[in-house]
Amino acid sequence: MRNRLIVALDTDDGEDIDWLSGTLIELVPWVKIGFQAFSTLGTESFPWLSGRGHLIFLDLKFHDIPNTVARDVGTMTKHGAHMINMHASGGLEMMQAARFSADDAADDAGIPKPILLGVTILTSIDEPGFKSSFGSERQLTEQVVFLAKQSKEAGLDGVVASPLEIEPIRKACGDNFLIVTPGIRPKWADPGDQRRITTPAEAINRGADFIVVGRPIIEAEDPLEAAGKILDEMRGM
Ligand code: C5P
Repeated sequence: MRNRLIVALDTDDGEDIDWLSGTLIELVPWVKIGFQAFSTLGTESFPWLSGRGHLIFLDLKFHDIPNTVARDVGTMTKHGAHMINMHASGGLEMMQAARFSADDAADDAGIPKPILLGVTILTSIDEPGFKSSFGSERQLTEQVVFLAKQSKEAGLDGVVASPLEIEPIRKACGDNFLIVTPGIRPKWADPGDQRRITTPAEAINRGADFIVVGRPIIEAEDPLEAAGKILDEMRGM
C-alpha cells in the first residue's frame, strides 16, 4: 500500500518540505509537488527528492495549446518527474502532443517514460457547482467518463478523478488504466474544501490505484503517525 499513497506537499516553505519529505520517506515514497512547493523548490529539488528515495508526482495541471504543453511536459520529464498531469479538458491534441514529447524526452535522457495523467473534474466541484460553472447538458459523471476516454485515446496512462467515479471510469477504460484519487478524508479529518470525498479504505475498495492525501497528513501534529494510520486504513486494518 505504501506505493499507492501519494502525499501532497502543499506548502511553499522549503524547510517544511525538507522536514516532511525526510520524515515521511520512512513510510511513503510518492510525494506530490504542486505550484506552492514548485515555486520554492523548482526542478533542482527533483534530484535530491529522488536521491532520498521519493517518486515525484508533479501536479502543475498543465492546460495550454498543444505546442506549449508538449514543451512543458517534455522539460519536466527531462528533469526527472515520475508522474505529470494536465487538464484533460485541454483536448485530445494537447494530450497526444504531451505524450509524444514526454516519451521523446525520456528516450533522449535514457530514463523511464513518466506516468501521464489527465485531470477530469476537480474533486472540489459537486453536481450543482458543475452545472453552474460549466453550463453543460451532461451529468458530472458523464463528463468525467468522457474526459477519461479522451485521456486514454490520447495515450495517457490514467486520470485524476474522485473516488466516487472509479466504477464508471473502469467500465469505460478498463483495468489497466490508472485512477488517481484525491478528495480522500479519513473519518478523523476535516473535509475542508473537498466535496466528492471518501475515506482511504473506501477509495481502495472501489479500486483506486493511488490515493492523494494532503492536509490530513501535512497539517497533522505527527505527519508520520497520520500517514501510518492512513496506510493501515488502506490495508483494511
Ligand atoms: O489537502 P488535500 O488532501 O485536500 O489535498 C488534495 C490534493 O490533491 C491538493 O494538492 C489538490 O490540489 C489535489 N487535487 C485535488 N483534486 C483534483 C486534483 C488534484 O484535490 N481533482
